[in-house]
Amino acid sequence: GEPVTIDVSQLQPGQQISVTWQGKPIFILHRTEQALTELKNKDLLARLSDPDSQVLQQPGYARNWSRSSRPEFLVIVAICTHLGCIPYVKEQPGDTTIDASWPGGYFCPCHGSKYDLAGRVFRGVPAPYNLPVPPYRFVDDKTLVVG
Ligand code: FES
Repeated sequence: GEPVTIDVSQLQPGQQISVTWQGKPIFILHRTEQALTELKNKDLLARLSDPDSQVLQQPGYARNWSRSSRPEFLVIVAICTHLGCIPYVKEQPGDTTIDASWPGGYFCPCHGSKYDLAGRVFRGVPAPYNLPVPPYRFVDDKTLVVG
């Protein structure tokens, strides 16, 4: 498939856009400072199946705490690793509606799998591993190329 070029300059912190690459939905989320801080929260990390992404679902440049080459931007294949439904952002850190049992992240409506805002899967849900990171690169400050 052809690479997809995305201008991320208008994407505000907390906002997400979706593009299609190789027939798959790709989410690009501009994470807030608060969301980035939460990714390193020890209580959160203890609840994840694979916090260090040891099961490889990402390129080398995304094998780090933020699972990305530019921490503020998450780029993931938005296909639940259980049976392929599309998860959605169900609250983000800092939302007042959030409850203690759910620190914010991606939720899959099909069978209730939960992922954090790095696409890392929580323990005790049907999804077996983290959401994949597709190949991508930033060609300049505002231009992202997926594929
Ligand atoms: Fe997402 Fe089953 S497809 S939980």
